[in-house]
Amino acid sequence: MEQSLAKQGVVLETSRLVLREFVAQDTDDLAAVLGDPLAMQYYPAAFDRKGVEEWIGKSIGRYQRDGHGLWAMVLKDSGELIGDCGCTLQEVDGKNHVEVGYHVRRDLWGNGYATEAAWACMQYAFGRLGASKVISMIRPENMQSRRVAEKNGMTCERIIFWREYDHCVYAKSRG
Ligand SMILES: CC(C)(COP(=O)(O)OP(=O)(O)OC[C@H]1O[C@@H](n2cnc3c(N)ncnc32)[C@H](O)[C@@H]1OP(=O)(O)O)[C@@H](O)C(=O)NCCC(=O)NCCS
Repeated sequence: MEQSLAKQGVVLETSRLVLREFVAQDTDDLAAVLGDPLAMQYYPAAFDRKGVEEWIGKSIGRYQRDGHGLWAMVLKDSGELIGDCGCTLQEVDGKNHVEVGYHVRRDLWGNGYATEAAWACMQYAFGRLGASKVISMIRPENMQSRRVAEKNGMTCERIIFWREYDHCVYAKSRG
């Protein structure tokens, strides 16, 4: 990766997207994603501004602790922040796994952005992070998210009760 991009916190590039580390100044743009009640219907609640600030703070903490986390999803063409996607460590059944997670601003759903970003993150997890398996924890009723996982070759291994809800454990092993 070019030195200049790395300096801007860029971690990954796809054909249409850049994934870069979050900074506090991203709060307004991310609030348009995580503050949307419809987008957050499978979470306990949509995030208020404080919740978005905490989300960004938690991501920055993960970069420092783990070297990775959820990154800002930015459109290459316009430089607009349209969501997040990345690799976080999640404990499932007492074991740490690399999880790929994603959120996209609602007016841009259906353009393939989550699938494109998640694919790049899966390759990053298998390659740079040396993961033998990548998971995504998805509520069974979240059909859009399940579709993203399935388009990227993940399969639902089982359904478990996790973080107060049933979740499909979507997984893909390194090929
Ligand atoms: C899940 C999410 C990130 C997907 O983002 P996206 O950029 O629209 O995803 P993509 O365009 O790459 O793919 C979405 C797929 O779901 C499909 N889809 C949409 N609604 C669907 C439904 N009700 N049932 C089945 N498939 C559906 C789309 O048609 C598309 O598949 P296709 O390419 O075969 O047509 C987005 O919907 C979102 O931000 N949701 C709220 C946050 C969330 O739930 N995150 C995941 C937590 S596990």
